[in-house]
Formats: sequence, structure tokens, C-alpha cells
Amino acid sequence: MERAFILGIETSCDETSASVVADGRQVLSNIISSQVKLHEQYGGVVPEIASRRHVELVLPVINQALEKAGVNLSDIDAIGVTYGPGLVGALLVGISAAKGIAFATGKPLIGVNHIHGHIAANYLQHKDLEPPFVCLVVSGGHSHIVYVRDYCEFEILGRTRDDAAGEAFDKIARTLGLDYPGGPVIDKVSRNGNEEAFDFPRVVFDDGSLDFSFSGIKTAVLNFVNTMQQKGGKWRVEDVAASFQKAVVDVLVNNAITAAENTNSKIITIAGGVAANSRLRSLMKEKAEKKNIKVLYPDPVLCTDNAAMIACAAYYYYKKGIVSDFSLNAIPGLKIDE
Ligand code: KG4
Ligand code: ZN
Repeated sequence: MERAFILGIETSCDETSASVVADGRQVLSNIISSQVKLHEQYGGVVPEIASRRHVELVLPVINQALEKAGVNLSDIDAIGVTYGPGLVGALLVGISAAKGIAFATGKPLIGVNHIHGHIAANYLQHKDLEPPFVCLVVSGGHSHIVYVRDYCEFEILGRTRDDAAGEAFDKIARTLGLDYPGGPVIDKVSRNGNEEAFDFPRVVFDDGSLDFSFSGIKTAVLNFVNTMQQKGGKWRVEDVAASFQKAVVDVLVNNAITAAENTNSKIITIAGGVAANSRLRSLMKEKAEKKNIKVLYPDPVLCTDNAAMIACAAYYYYKKGIVSDFSLNAIPGLKIDE
């Protein structure tokens, strides 16, 4: 059988990325140009700067992805591109590039939901993984527990009611005077901290809901630091970081395991930038394996934004004949189950 080559394009936030994936699971190239350094001085992504940088980078990055994969545009079977959720100006750059290529080559255009991409990153890492399974998707903009019924069928079992998990990591890092993006830094400094040092709040809803809330813990850490600074009390950044991380991870792990039990799932996958967190990975494994639930997650490079995951998700739409027309537009607030 002929192999299917999908060109993936991702520009939803501050990474310009292009990738060629063969038969849905084999990554031939995954070029990621990160703008982290550009946004660092502002402590967060500045949308207009991100869009302008994508405009400069998108074609060179696509070229590199094709070259590294050793394929030409004529070898590509379909073009998958993120159309939401994300920053509108940033999304439009990738969408326009993808449309141009689809128009010129006559190949199908496939709009991909960024969150479906994060979930699909697990297929790239674990070649035998097939739905159904439960996926905990935790990134800078999203925190969801998803039941992946099939490759293109998703059901939300829980979601954050305020901040996303990654957003909480980034904000707490700023409170603690640590670098941006905060997640990887908190992960690193926490290794030298005592996670039992402080008991920050863990929100559990008493209506049985598997939703999350991280705004309370954010305020608790902020109040703690302010009080300590006023009183001149002794505390270590490492201990606060580790205790904060443990409080967030505890809730993510407990809710994901309950979701797996409720749906009789034997597999939990983790996806999104926060899936790179070492404590989340270790605690999820430790607790789930006691209940005979297998835990899978991608390598860190496939956890954070990249185009290989978009190409992988696009492949499964392509196989089902789900393609987009040239009216495809950016949907900044696109939902998982839309
Ligand atoms: O998925 P992603 O690259 O972009 C979005 O779609 O949002 O996720 C970025 C988020 C940031 O908030 C970053 O701080 C967080 O993922 N992150 C981490 C780690 N690595 C990245 N959070 C905790 N621990 C990490 N090791
Ligand atoms: Zn993402």
C-alpha cells in the first residue's frame, strides 16, 4: 500500500512548527522554532509579536521540514493545520500558508483542533496505542480530562473552572521571581524542595464533578509570599515551588484516575505542555498502576507545541475523509468536542 505523507503546520501560540509524518505515526521531521526568547522580557506571549514572527518563519520552517523528511510538496497527501484554539493572529498565519500550499498543489486541506493534536502526540510515542482511553490534557491554555472514544470522537469529563494548570505554573513562577515559562523552572527547582513543607489548598467539588480550580491555590501562594515578605519570615523558594506543584499534581492525578475508573478505562494518557512535568508523570504512574491502569505520555518535545502532533491528528481525519474547504478560518475559542 502507498504510504500517506501528511504535512503538519502549527502556529497557534509562540512556536512556529512544521512536520512531515508518514502513515500517521512515523515522524520524518518536526521543525520547531520557538519564540520563547522573544517574549521572555514581557513575562508572557505578546500576540502581535507572535503573529509577526510567524509570518517571517512559517515558509522557511515548512521548507526545512520537507527537506529533512526528504520529500517534495508533490509527495504530500494532505496538509493539516491548527485552526484553533489559540491566538487569532497567530493561527491565521499558519492557516493562510496551508491554504496557499493546498491551492497550489490541489492537495486536501485539513483544519486540526490544537487539543486533538496534543492528544495525538501519544500515538506518535506509543505505536500500539488505540482509542478508547482517558487523556488528561494540561497546557498553558487548557486543562481537560477527555474520554477519547475514537480517533475523531472526544467527550469532556472534566475541565478547569478558572486557570489552566500551565497558567498557574507560569503565574506562581512569576510570584516566586523565577524565569518564564514557569512550568519547566518550577519542575526543576522543586527537585531540591520539600513538597510537604506547605499545605496549599486542593479544590475538590462536592457534586462529584471532575472539574479543576486553580485560582484558590494561586491566591494562597501569593498571600503566603506577601505575608512572609512583610514579616521577614524564613522560607525557601524550592519548598514553596515543590508544595505548590504537589498540590496541583495531586488534583490532576486523582481526578484523572477517577475518570478512568468511571469509564472503565485501563489506560490514562497525559498530553500538553504540563505533561512534561516530572512529578505529574511519576505520581500518575505510581497511583494509577496500583489500580492496574497503565499510564502513557510522550517525550517532552512532543508534549509542548509541535507540528508532528498536528500532522498525526490530521492523518486520522484524512482517513475518515474529513477535510476542510477554503473557507477554513481561525477559531480562537474552539472547543474539544466541536
Ligand atoms: O502545550 P503548550 O506548549 O502550549 C499551549 O498550548 O498552551 O504548554 C505550555 C505550558 C506552559 O504554561 C508551561 O509553563 C507548561 O506548559 N510546561 C510545564 C512544563 N513544561 C512546560 N509545566 C510544568 N512542568 C513542566 N515541566
Ligand atoms: Zn498547546
